[in-house]
Formats: sequence, structure tokens, C-alpha cells
Amino acid sequence: MNIRDKNSELANPPVVKKLIPFGGYHTNKIPGHDPELTEVGPGTPMGEYMRRFWHPVCMSAELTDTPHFLKILCEELVAFRDGSGRIGLLHAHCVHRGASLEYGAIQEKGIKCCYHGMVFDIDGTCLHVPFPKGEEKEGEKYACSIKQGAYKAFERNGLVFAYMGPPDEEPPFPEWEGNFTVAEGDELVPYSNFQHCNWMQVQDNAADNFHPTALHSAKNVVKGQYQGTTFDEVGAASMEVAPDMVFVPIHQGRGLACAGARRVNKDRLFIRVQHQVLPNLSLHAYTSEDGSSKKLFSRFHIVRWTVPVDDVNAKMIGWRVMGPGIDTRGVGDKSMVGYESIDFLEGQVAMRRPERFGKYKIEDHPPIPSDHRARENYKDCQYAPGDYEAIISQRPIAVHALENPTKFDAGVFQFRKMLRDAIRGTNQAAGPEQFAAWLRENSAAPNSYCTGNVLEVPEAATLEEEVKQRRHVARQIVAILTESDALKGDARDSFVRNRFDALEQSTRS
Ligand code: FES
Ligand SMILES: [Fe+2]
Repeated sequence: MNIRDKNSELANPPVVKKLIPFGGYHTNKIPGHDPELTEVGPGTPMGEYMRRFWHPVCMSAELTDTPHFLKILCEELVAFRDGSGRIGLLHAHCVHRGASLEYGAIQEKGIKCCYHGMVFDIDGTCLHVPFPKGEEKEGEKYACSIKQGAYKAFERNGLVFAYMGPPDEEPPFPEWEGNFTVAEGDELVPYSNFQHCNWMQVQDNAADNFHPTALHSAKNVVKGQYQGTTFDEVGAASMEVAPDMVFVPIHQGRGLACAGARRVNKDRLFIRVQHQVLPNLSLHAYTSEDGSSKKLFSRFHIVRWTVPVDDVNAKMIGWRVMGPGIDTRGVGDKSMVGYESIDFLEGQVAMRRPERFGKYKIEDHPPIPSDHRARENYKDCQYAPGDYEAIISQRPIAVHALENPTKFDAGVFQFRKMLRDAIRGTNQAAGPEQFAAWLRENSAAPNSYCTGNVLEVPEAATLEEEVKQRRHVARQIVAILTESDALKGDARDSFVRNRFDALEQSTRS
């Protein structure tokens, strides 16, 4: 063994599985994390892939009269809205001698560095160098010789989106189905929730469709220390039933349809299709479904990107769709959706129970606690943990080499594989170039598979037949959505509804 092999073995000791009682000693060495999927800095495979897509980087409300410091994909940045209303996203460290532009002054056009007063436009152009009188020409010459690092950014429904890749590879911004399926009277309400761990385990949680049965179930809250953490609390008890899942790669491996069938009662099935899009977008159907009446082709309830801050921090940024169109039960609470806050299930954010601990105000730039065990309400979180506790406690970067997956984890592993295929080039359709071309072919408004449905499908006579039926219906729902993909808008909508109806009928004959 040469020295390099030796060193790499020390960094990544082989996982030895010894299935012996009290054998913790034999599994106490922790191998390294999986760099291919988890590291996102400049020059890393995943970091380079991610940089070829648009991502939300902060909420519009975070842009005030002072520049906003933020970190995205391991890069230190400042975001601001200049006096003429344009969004700037610049490297934080001034190209002159490195002072952070977070201490700069926002100008009518661009931003002025606090240290020596150079002014930079939102595209990085140096607009002004304060050279002494009589030496302005020299100042102009100097200005032309430098460029502050800058990224293209824009605002959409309360979020700031940015493209951090090479300018000549910029893809279109994907407007899913044109307007993110928002029905008249409904709205996209922005939110941003910080997660103190690697982005991949936050994204993994989206395709982990079995955890609600345990994590979000009233019966699992310790000693009745109930805090409204469960689906039962919002009346969506059907979400607590373990689903029969079908995972289907769609759009040539650019996305994954996660279809789950849950029995509501002996007459009705609840079928929910969640759509995950490479690399970090997930589109979620209605989260408060109670299955009380038939429902066909209900659409997005959450549009969510998992945005890496650095290798050990991430943000869930997105929109909660609110209004009577999607929220048929009227249980959403807009006042709870925003910065470090979300209205469904507690335990989604680092600090919970705002009535006890105070709600974060963006203007205050509050420190979000990074040590989860030092939180004031640590014990409450132990009694009734939520997604935040489960995800961030998988270690700062979850160690894939130590996992022992079951069939329940199929969606998580399928999505990881699709990511690897995309970044390795083994699925070129999901590579940045072909992905962008596909968006352009679809007028940057591709169809989504995301949908919530309640079908009147009677329970089968035996458990075996029932399981078979549930899987059949879930599979057929995905097949119908695939067939409908050639259609757009209202034509697709009625095609899907008719076919779902026919599917329901076929189970009753
Ligand atoms: S460091 Fe910014 S102007 Fe000198
Ligand atoms: Fe969850």
C-alpha cells in the first residue's frame, strides 16, 4: 500500500459490519461524507451542476436600506435593491482590497464600498473611483481594469432568484406550467427556513414519503407532550397512513414522480404525487388533505428549493400556495408563513413556538441558533421532534456509507442516483445543456406531475388484492400524467380529469 492509499484509508476507513451484541466498538469509526453529492463549492461536481440552474437566494423582504450579506453555494455575497429598483447580487469582498460590501452604501445606481468609495453597478462594472481632482482620467482607466464579481438576479413573488453559472450557459427560468398552477384567488406566499446541515439531507427528506407515519404522527409524541406537531392536529390524518409508493423517473430523468396511495376509508383512496426536479426543486400537493370528498387533479401546495448555503448549512426557500383554490379545508395560516416560519406542522424551523420565544423579524437579523442542543426548547423538541430535528441531527453532513436503507428509502436513493447520472454525464438529458434546451422547447413552462387526488375506489376484498390495487392506481395515475404531457393548460387539465375519472370507474366494475 502506498502512502496515498494509506492516507485515503485513514480519511475513509472501510465500514466493517459486525453483527454482534454490544458490538458498538466495531462500528465506532465514522467514514467520510459523500463529496460527489454533498460538496457544492466552486469547482466541485455538484457545485458546478447546481450553478447551471436558477435558485432563490433570499426573500425580497430581506432587502432593506442596508446591503444583505448572505452565503450561497459556499460563496460570500451581498444582495441589495438599488435606488432605481434593480437587484444586485455581488461578491461580498470588494475587488479593490477586500472590504465587505455589506458595509457599503446603496446608491441610486449600484453600491459604494465603505473603505475607499469605489462604486459598483449590479453587473459588477466599476462606475466610479474617487481619484483626486486632476487625476480623474487615471481613475477611469483604473475603473475599466476591474470588475466586481456579480450575478444576474431578479424578484418574483417575494423571492430573489439568482443565476451563478457562466453567463453564456444561462438557462431560462422555469415557470412551471406558466404560473406554478396558482388558481384565481390563490397566491404564492414566500418563506425561507434555515437548516443547519448539508443540503442533500434536506432534499432527501422530500422524497422520504414514509417518515410522516412516524415523525408526524400524534401517537409517537412522547408522554403526550403534544404541541400540534402532527398531521392529526391539522385534520389530515390520512397523511399518517403509510402509503404504497411508486417512484417513476420522468422527463428523461430530469425529475422523479413520487406517487403514494393511502386508504382514507373503505370507500376512498388518497393519491398524492410529489414531483422532484433536478437538482433541488420539489413540488408538493395539498398537505392538509382529509380525504372527505372526491377530488381530482388538485395542484401545487408547496414549491420548494433546497438551496445550499455552504457544505453544512442550507435553506428551504419557496412559496406556500394559499387560498381557497388549493386549500379546500381553509386551514392555512398566512401570518405563519415567512422568514424562519411556516404554517404546517411544528418543528420545521430551528425556533418553534413563536408565542413563547418570539417571532423572528427580518430587520433584526437575529442569530438563528446553530447548536440545536443549546436551544431553550430543546426538551420540547425531544418530546415532539419535527423535520428540522430529524434532518439536522443526521450529522452536519449525513454519512451515506453508514446508511442501511430499506425499501421505504427507494425514492431517496432513486433521486440521488439521478443526480449522479446528471453530474457524471451518464444521463446527458439531465446535464445542464440538454436540460436548458428542454426548458426552451417547453417555452420555459414545463408540465408538472404534482397532484393531489381523492378517488372513490372501494377497498378490495383481501389485503393482498388491496395492496395490489393501491399500487395499480398509483402507477396508472403517473401513466396518465405521462400521456397528458403533450398537452398544455385547460386541454391537459380536462384530459387528466377525464382519465382519472375513468380510472376510478375501472376499479368499481
Ligand atoms: S476595499 Fe473597497 S474601495 Fe477599497
Ligand atoms: Fe416531514
